[in-house]
Amino acid sequence: MQRVFRRAFSGRDFLWRHRCFSQLAQSEISIQEKDVLLPKMPPFDYSPPPYNGPSAAEILQKRIEFLSPSMFCFYKKPLNVVDGKMQYLFDEDGRRYLDAFGGIATVCCGHCHPDVVEAIVNQTKRLQHSTVLYLHHAIAEFAEALASKMPGDLKVVFFTNSGTEANELAMMIARLYTGYHDIISIRNAYHGNAAGTMGATAQSGWKFNVVQCGVHHALNPDQYRGVFGSDGEKYAKDLQGLIDYGTTGNVAGFIAEAIQGVGGILELAPGYLPAVYGSIKKAGGLCIADEVQCGFARTGSHFWGFEAHGVVPDIVTMAKGIGNGIPIGAVVTTPEIAQVLTQRSYFNTFGGNPVCTAGGHAVLRVIEKEKLQENAFVVGSYLKERLTSLKEKYEIIGDVRGRGLMLGVELVTDRQEKTPAKIETIHVMDQMKENGVLIGKGGFYGNVFRITPPLCFTKEDADFLVDVMDHTMSKM
Ligand SMILES: Cc1ncc(COP(=O)(O)O)c(C=O)c1O
Repeated sequence: MQRVFRRAFSGRDFLWRHRCFSQLAQSEISIQEKDVLLPKMPPFDYSPPPYNGPSAAEILQKRIEFLSPSMFCFYKKPLNVVDGKMQYLFDEDGRRYLDAFGGIATVCCGHCHPDVVEAIVNQTKRLQHSTVLYLHHAIAEFAEALASKMPGDLKVVFFTNSGTEANELAMMIARLYTGYHDIISIRNAYHGNAAGTMGATAQSGWKFNVVQCGVHHALNPDQYRGVFGSDGEKYAKDLQGLIDYGTTGNVAGFIAEAIQGVGGILELAPGYLPAVYGSIKKAGGLCIADEVQCGFARTGSHFWGFEAHGVVPDIVTMAKGIGNGIPIGAVVTTPEIAQVLTQRSYFNTFGGNPVCTAGGHAVLRVIEKEKLQENAFVVGSYLKERLTSLKEKYEIIGDVRGRGLMLGVELVTDRQEKTPAKIETIHVMDQMKENGVLIGKGGFYGNVFRITPPLCFTKEDADFLVDVMDHTMSKM
């Protein structure tokens, strides 16, 4: 593997030290680890209670026997995560890890944030479930708070349980409102895994061989691998061609993430969305912004990902960060468009559940109170800068991209050819975990690190992450 790790320059020296990540873990550090100088994890004043539950091996055995064989784990030696506090996770031995994946861009305020826990516990003690057939203040108050974060006339909220459900509903609303059927999504997108959304999802690895009709996939305005580089308008012209040649000339809508998450943290080329929104409107369609990963202040520069492109969608879908880990999603649209759901009965048993909406409202308050958007901007920009310097040091890093605390690092074995470094990606991830840092991975080829930590991530955490990545790469 040394071949792909040619050093471009020696880089800065790190404060390598003998270090274990928690007292409990001391015995676990191997002799080999003790001999190397490891980057130091920032101190954190919290010790989880002792864990007396089953071991990782026992849980794995039960998973194999009783759970779907489709479930997969990260890491050669799967991690048994038993506690979480803010940007840190703890395993069964009390060993602390820096969580730079955030439960897949979901934990935005921090694990078990006290304000969010308090809101959930208080509501759970009082009333867990009622359905929207009765009045409850939590759903109404959260809807009002969410609407206040939206531009234009986006004022009506439907609550769901997940991102898939939110996108299914959004696509159905677009079809009902326009009277057209065709939807355009972008290649390499991920929008969910139910009947309609699997059609909008555009990566073969996430599509099953079942009927998925009525969706066309436009060229991906991918600034790294895309045929037109960063020229957003050229990709938009291709989409106009798709409408002209592939549909009746009218479409129900267009759905896109401002930054593709599962697809490998790919920010749509500048100029693309405004041009495409124009084409879609001309074709009679509605524009849907999928903010499941990039919403809720994650991108730092804006609260919603679409705002960086200067567009206002007709429908916005969200999940993940909205609940900091509580299962909740939402669709927000205009009063006029929302009216179409009155044609029949639309009902969702858990949508708008008091516990979930009380938790979601607390999340919004925490983001504001703790200025997490500003933090995502400051720390995210710093982290991106440091990762970009690492790219100068290791040829295997083909691209560093993203915004705020939604960053991607793509590994390639050849920068010219952009050959995906799949095995190396898994290896570095595994080694980083051994050294106390958890990151995610994604991209069509599975060769992109996804860095989407809780938004309370600090500059010291960013340094630790980059130092551990540097240390790991230097050993290959
Ligand atoms: C952009 C995007 N949309 C939709 C979904 C589906 O959300 P869920 O897994 O909550 O159904 C995901 C999930 O990763 C996503 O990343």
